[in-house]
Parts: sequence; structure tokens; C-alpha cells
Amino acid sequence: MGEGGGFQLGTVGALSLSVVSSVSIVICNKALMSSLGFKFATTLTSWHLLVTFCSLHVALWIKLFEHKPFDQKAVMGFGILNGISIGLLNLSLGFNSVGFYQMTKLAIIPCTVLLETAFLGKKFSRSIQFSLSILLLGVGIATVTDLQLNLLGSVLSLLAIITTCIAQIMTNTIQKKFKVSSTQLLYQSSPYQALTLFVSGPFLDGLLTNQNVFAFNYTPQVLVFIVLSCLISVSVNFSTFLVIGKTSPVTYQVLGHLKTCLVLTFGYVLLHDPFSWRNIFGILVAIVASGLGLLAAAAGNWGLGSGLGNERGLTAAALPDLPYDYGALEPAISGEIMRLHHQKHHQAYVTNYNNALEQLEAAVAEGDAPAVVRLEGAIKFNGGGHINHSIFWNNLKPVKEGGGEPPDSALVWAINTDFGSLEALVQKMNAEGAALQGSGWVWLALDKGSKKLSVQTTANQDPLVTKGLHMVPLLGIDVREHAYYLQ
Ligand SMILES: [Fe+2]
Repeated sequence: MGEGGGFQLGTVGALSLSVVSSVSIVICNKALMSSLGFKFATTLTSWHLLVTFCSLHVALWIKLFEHKPFDQKAVMGFGILNGISIGLLNLSLGFNSVGFYQMTKLAIIPCTVLLETAFLGKKFSRSIQFSLSILLLGVGIATVTDLQLNLLGSVLSLLAIITTCIAQIMTNTIQKKFKVSSTQLLYQSSPYQALTLFVSGPFLDGLLTNQNVFAFNYTPQVLVFIVLSCLISVSVNFSTFLVIGKTSPVTYQVLGHLKTCLVLTFGYVLLHDPFSWRNIFGILVAIVASGLGLLAAAAGNWGLGSGLGNERGLTAAALPDLPYDYGALEPAISGEIMRLHHQKHHQAYVTNYNNALEQLEAAVAEGDAPAVVRLEGAIKFNGGGHINHSIFWNNLKPVKEGGGEPPDSALVWAINTDFGSLEALVQKMNAEGAALQGSGWVWLALDKGSKKLSVQTTANQDPLVTKGLHMVPLLGIDVREHAYYLQ
């Protein structure tokens, strides 16, 4: 559910892992290229991707995500383009200062917006256009100095920006068109990305460095850094996946800027990167502009919606995504009902719960006891509605994913032991539900104390936990669900 201490610990852990691994990989690669002379950036990236693919394969194997094959041509085209863009980004890091590389990455967001406006006819609000122009200005100021110093690096950066923008737009369109997650997409496209770089890497690296990657003197120190770099790349991918899953897109953006600052500091202090004041000024302007962009987003212009709940405090709730499409349960439940039930009803519980929490915070701070007591009802009702519905969505499953089938053998055994048969359990739940006065929930619960299954009912939106911490909800049914009145 997201309310317990374990959740907060998990989020903090994911955020820390993300910061530490992202900063470490930049430093590790920079050390490998600058200090140890291993300048074969593209070849190194192909090894990263191979390791990433293998680790995702393991993640698939331990069921961290589901495999969902789709249009092979799209996967291949996307993989190859991504391979090219990753190679160019790495080349940009190899041939520029860490600061210039970070600016290259910052320029990707406004360029994506420009391309989407120009070619896809997308509209962005004035406040976003404004903050993005400041961001571009900052990027411009910071890059002027490096442009004079390093023409090859600048050209590589420009190419990296263009290919990355197209790849990012493709990421969005493919995910929407084929309804796949970012992890499913990465898993299927990473072999193509790896292959593109594996084949082109040695040529490209040879051309740019006048050295042969196969003839390089692989000292133990170089090997250690290469293995380290590959291992950190797994952690980068894994933590990105975790952070986006556990928090909101806004958190991920803010985290990105924190990483930028850390990388810049490390680059300057440890690796003695050359910095000009103009460079630092440009970066500051860019970061301020991104902050403005985030404010615009927070005002709702960017459509980041419910994910923002996490920004107010760790206790705020957010509407969870459904584990399937709205229409996936048809013909049993219509897509229209699922959408209404999720986007309107469940969202209302989340919003009202967060509002009540905010008021409670103020009341506690002011020592206003009557207000604290008065808010208890709203927190119980709306918090309960959020908890119950979050369980409810996971109780349902589309037929093609095994929905509508009898439960697995261990649960059937427990049901037979405690109720006689599945039919007897269904009858009992129906009878208890019908006997409920007003609205409420009927639960199939596991009593952790007696290790027995039982049928429980709760009034209104009271969650099962009101019956005691030892009660674990397995299945919940909303007895007077008003979303069903549509059909
Ligand atoms: Fe409901």
C-alpha cells in the first residue's frame, strides 16, 4: 500500500541508489577514458547493454516484470536508433568536459519539445515555452566557451541531442501505440542496441582515437574499471526503473538535477575538469529554468496529475496505475465503468485523503484538538477508500492473463479446509454482503494469528485493518459499488 515505513525506506533506498549509481558511472567512465586511456566509449557501451539485457532477463525470470512481445520491426528500428544515440552521448562525454556533457543532456528536453511542436503539432503552454527558452539560453551561454575550444566534441554533442530527441519521442509513441512499459521496451530493444554498438564500436572508436580496441593493453586496473562500469550500468537501469515506479515523474526530474550538481562538483573537485565562470553561470540558469518548468508542471499544465501527491510529503497518497487496461475486463466490466471507478471515484478518495492529511498537519501544529478529532472521520473514510480500492484493482485480472479461473492449488486447499468448498465460500460471501446495512465491504481474510481464512465485513470504506493488524485482506468486494450503475 504505500503507507507503511517499509515504503518510505524503499523509496529512500531507490532514490539513494539512483543518485549514487548515476554519479558513480559518470566518474568511473571519465576515469577510464581520461586517466587510464581507455577511450573506446562506444565499445564500452555495447558491453553495458549486453550486461543490461542479461540483468533484465534475470529480472524477467524472477517475475519483476512481464514479457510482452510486439511489432518486431518497430523494436529493431527503435533499438538501432537508440544504439546510435547512446553511442553519440558517450562519445560526447569522452570528448567534452563533464560540464559540457551535462549541458548536452539538459538540452535534450527543450529540443524534444521543439521537435514535437514542429513535426507532431503538439501544443505547450506559455509558461512551459517560457521556462524552456530560459533553459536553452542557459545551455547556450554555457556552451559558447566550449564551442571555441572543441569543435569535434560540439558536433558530436549536437548529433547526440538530435538522435536522442527522436529516440525519446519514439519511446513515447511506441509505449502508447503498443501499450508496453519502459522496461518491456528496454528488454526487447537492448539486444539490437547492443548489436549496433558492438559492430560499429571498434570502427568508430578506432577512427576517433587512432587506437585499436583489440590491441589495447588491458592492465588489471583497466579491467577492474570496465567490470565496475558494467556493474554500475545495471544499477543505473534498475534504480531508474525503481524510482519511476515508486515516486512521480516530477521527483525523477528533481533527482536528475541533484545528480547534475553532484556530477559537476565531483568533476571539478576530483577530476580537475576545466570550468569557466560562464559555464557555471549557464548551468545555474539552466537549473533555475528547470525549476520554473517544474512549477509550471506543478500548476497542472504538464498533465503530471496525480503523481504530484508524492511531492508534498512522504505520507501523501497517489492514485496507483491499474495493472491492466481499462477495457481489459470486458465483457464482464465495461471499460467506461473501470475508467469512471478509477479516475473519478478512487481519485476522489486520494484527493480528499491528502486534503484531510494537510489539514491534520496544520491542526497538529496548532495544537487544535477539536480539529484533529473532527478530521478523523474524513481520514478514515477517504484513506480507507484508497486502501480498499488499491486492493480491489489487484483482485481483478483479464481473462487472457488467467482471470476467471479457479484460484491456485494452495488457496483452494485452504478454502476447502476452512469453508468446505469454493461454492460454500461464494455463498457465505454473498450472504454476508446482502446482510450488510448500507454500504460496506465483504472480505476474504487471512487471520495471521490463527492461520485460518475467514469472511469479514466492514462498514462504509473502513479497511480490513480496522478489525485488527492480524487480518490480511485477500479479496475485497465493495457491496454498494455505485460505478456499476452505468450498466
Ligand atoms: Fe468503488
